[in-house]
Amino acid sequence: MTLKPVGGRPEAVDIMLEKGKVAVQRTYYQSRKEEGLLPGPRVKPGTLAALDIGSSKVCALVAQLSEGGKIDITGYGMALSNGMRRGVVVDVDGTVRAVREAVEKAEDMAQTRIRGVTLGVAGTHVQSVNVRGVIGITRGDKEIVQDDVDRALEAARVDSVPQERQIIHVLPRQYIVDGYDGIFDPVGMVGNRLEVEANIVTCSATSLENLTRCVARANLHVETPVLASLASGEAVLHQAERELGVAVADIGCGTTDVGIFDRHGLYHAGVIPVGGEYITKDLAVGLRTPLPMAEKIKIQHGVALVDAARADDYVEVPDVGGSRTQKIGRRAIAEIIQPRVEEIFGLIMREITKSGRDGVLPGGIVITGGTATLEGIVEVGQDATGLSVRVGYPEGQGGLTELVRDPACSCAVGIICLAAQNLGYTEGVTVGGQVSGLFGDLWGRVRGWVKQSY
Ligand SMILES: Nc1ncnc2c1ncn2[C@@H]1O[C@H](COP(=O)(O)OP(=O)(O)OP(=O)(O)O)[C@@H](O)[C@H]1O
Ligand SMILES: [Mg+2]
Repeated sequence: MTLKPVGGRPEAVDIMLEKGKVAVQRTYYQSRKEEGLLPGPRVKPGTLAALDIGSSKVCALVAQLSEGGKIDITGYGMALSNGMRRGVVVDVDGTVRAVREAVEKAEDMAQTRIRGVTLGVAGTHVQSVNVRGVIGITRGDKEIVQDDVDRALEAARVDSVPQERQIIHVLPRQYIVDGYDGIFDPVGMVGNRLEVEANIVTCSATSLENLTRCVARANLHVETPVLASLASGEAVLHQAERELGVAVADIGCGTTDVGIFDRHGLYHAGVIPVGGEYITKDLAVGLRTPLPMAEKIKIQHGVALVDAARADDYVEVPDVGGSRTQKIGRRAIAEIIQPRVEEIFGLIMREITKSGRDGVLPGGIVITGGTATLEGIVEVGQDATGLSVRVGYPEGQGGLTELVRDPACSCAVGIICLAAQNLGYTEGVTVGGQVSGLFGDLWGRVRGWVKQSY
């Protein structure tokens, strides 16, 4: 067992990570606002927190688990940030500041404090691979126990992960007992041979460590890292779409996180290094206007589909020097945007083809992330890919639903769902499933977990 200390000032946070999971943790909690003991409310029992550190903003959510099996979102905090580029920290201080700001806002709204967060991980350094593990059941009674399942999963992860990479998920897709497939939970069954098909998601160990250090410097610890596209999928996909096979594309600012799901769970994940910023940059060049102005024009007047934009609808656009303005038709703006959006969908299709699911995705593509709100993007996506495309809004939670019903919040909302599920599982293994189905046992664990944290 190799343990290594990560992040923060040792007197404040001392976290040991093993395979991406917190193995040992001694936390002396300090306020994010001031040094010394924390004023204000303490951590409420059953509190979960999500942190999504994106290229344009940090989003923090606090949620409350209730005995009835509901997840209520009780706190929301957002802070603008440019500290990340495509999933990699490029400005530590800026990222730490934004994390503190977002978390404080969420804490104040939820009237509680946060110590640990479930953290979204994205970036081009993320990879996913489908693997298979096989073991023999040698005991006399042939009954499969949890230890056999763990051994099968261990066999699947052996050799599939180079040293410099960190496993963030081992997602069992299905178990096969003596050739019978489609088994979700083989424990209690009898057999001679147990196989598991799993998707292993890894990321660069150093990129994750840099991110974890930023979180630790905000006096928080990372309870579990989760794949951003897995989280976005959790928030926006319908069960019927998963049954058919579906892709989720979280089109953010610097990246587009793609996850392909079928009825067995995550099939493929990939991150495309292009997002809404790509459109903004092209608008700035094409309209000869500063980047912040191009961003504003895109959000207020941008249309992805040229045919949907009226030629006689004009927008005042200041030039780079700021001394003159020019009148530009919305149609001319759409003529710059449409080709960029088509390119993004071309890259999403390439990811789908790479996964081997080309032509077998009846559930289509569900787009989410801030860029999914661009007017006309669905029509352009459908034309470019030949697949059905819809915008996915985060659904299914209670509490501040109106506040987080924004595609830019999908990842953070999904992180909360995965955090709740993860409490019901062990050893870095997260499998899909309804939180309500697990909840009887889950609530007991939550109570135990909250007790331990004092
Ligand atoms: N109404 C809108 N029309 C067009 N684009 C929009 C609109 N609203 C937001 N965006 C774009 O969405 C992007 C931000 O989305 P989001 O908040 O999901 O990104 P992020 O999570 O910070 O970044 P990433 O996931 O790439 O790291 C920006 O590029 C912004 O311009
Ligand atoms: Mg994002």
